[in-house]
Amino acid sequence: MLPVFSLFRKKTTLADGTFSMLGTDMHSHLVPGIDDGAKDLQGSLELIRQLSRLGFRKIITTPHIRPEYFPNTRDTILPGFENLRNAVAQEVPGVELAVAAEYFVDFEFMEYLEKEALLTFSGSRVLIETSTIAAPPNFQDIIFQLRLSGYQPVLAHPERYLHMDLKTFTKLKELGCEFQVNLMSLSGHYGSKVKKHADLIIRNGLVNYFGTDCHNLHHTQVLTEIAHEARLVKKILDCQPQNSDLELT
Ligand SMILES: [Fe+2]
Repeated sequence: MLPVFSLFRKKTTLADGTFSMLGTDMHSHLVPGIDDGAKDLQGSLELIRQLSRLGFRKIITTPHIRPEYFPNTRDTILPGFENLRNAVAQEVPGVELAVAAEYFVDFEFMEYLEKEALLTFSGSRVLIETSTIAAPPNFQDIIFQLRLSGYQPVLAHPERYLHMDLKTFTKLKELGCEFQVNLMSLSGHYGSKVKKHADLIIRNGLVNYFGTDCHNLHHTQVLTEIAHEARLVKKILDCQPQNSDLELT
């Protein structure tokens, strides 16, 4: 049996105010001025400094691609990203950056998939999201088609889709979809229903990765609070997330 003092010591090392146990983040909006994330280069650098303080050494940033709101393409994403990466090499040493995208999946996504080579991370992974109101009726077909096309779909924040139940989540996993839960869902940042939905996904062992989905400095503040909460840090560790297996290419 462990002496009492070592139990206390374990507790304090668990929540050291960082997510160094994850090391890699694969969901954020840091390319300046092209979506609802960082507005300019200085803002972007400040967010990356904060994420570095939070223990992230590798950051795969994922600008929105959603035709009617954020009509991004490789041509809007890649030059801004290269500029950011050069600035980070100078200003925030010790952090490595890569870029992919967060694709909004609607009914028309199948057509998009036929026309475009998608921006991927860590091999063939593609980060996707859908509406928080309802998924398109062909959502499962789209997952199947992504797999058939050689992509590994990763569903961003499944806990935010209150229209999906455990049966749907299980089906998506069976189709080969990976799940990325937002760290901020654990503290109730998106509301108590989303928090409960995150717990459902966690309890059923469906989490592959945690992500920050960082858009702004309010988010890094919320993330800092979570990183100091031993109960939440334990919850993250118990999921055995695979963030550190992710590669930047
Ligand atoms: Fe996002």
